[in-house]
Amino acid sequence: MAKTIQLNISLQAYGSIEELPAAERHLLEEARRATEKAYAPYSNFYVGAALLTADGEIIRGTNQENAAYPSGLCAERTALFAAGANNPDLQVKMLAVTARRKGEAHYTAANPCGACRQVMAEYEDKQKSPIRIIMEGQNGEIWVAEGINVLLPFRFSKENL
Ligand code: THU
Repeated sequence: MAKTIQLNISLQAYGSIEELPAAERHLLEEARRATEKAYAPYSNFYVGAALLTADGEIIRGTNQENAAYPSGLCAERTALFAAGANNPDLQVKMLAVTARRKGEAHYTAANPCGACRQVMAEYEDKQKSPIRIIMEGQNGEIWVAEGINVLLPFRFSKENL
């Protein structure tokens, strides 16, 4: 007889960016500004990420595309890898991600891809604390997840090795 393993997963949905607490709002604004610097000539989908470190530093990332498509990298990993490369003792408190299509003024839903979730999980494991993830949601909503367990349950980790 199989047993059921049931998880209770939830996130917070805010009606607009104005409703976010100040630090989260500021970080999402930084991510939105970062979309201006995306290099996305193939998808025309400009993604911006901003992370806040325990030292209060904000590090931004944008998607970096390539004519050889798989050589490109998502905004979230660009930010995390830049931060990790410059500071091996990195402690990430929160990460905000947003997106905007070329020629459009409004921001659109940006749920981190699976590969970026796996990388966030690795950094959580490394720093031994969760990363709050702030995402541009549907219809102007902003979603806030209290750590990668919400977005990537039953994941592969060093415990599997
Ligand atoms: N992209 C990101 O930067 N982050 C994600 O989480 C999803 C997708 C980028 C990759 C590619 O440059 C473009 O969005 C379209 O997939």
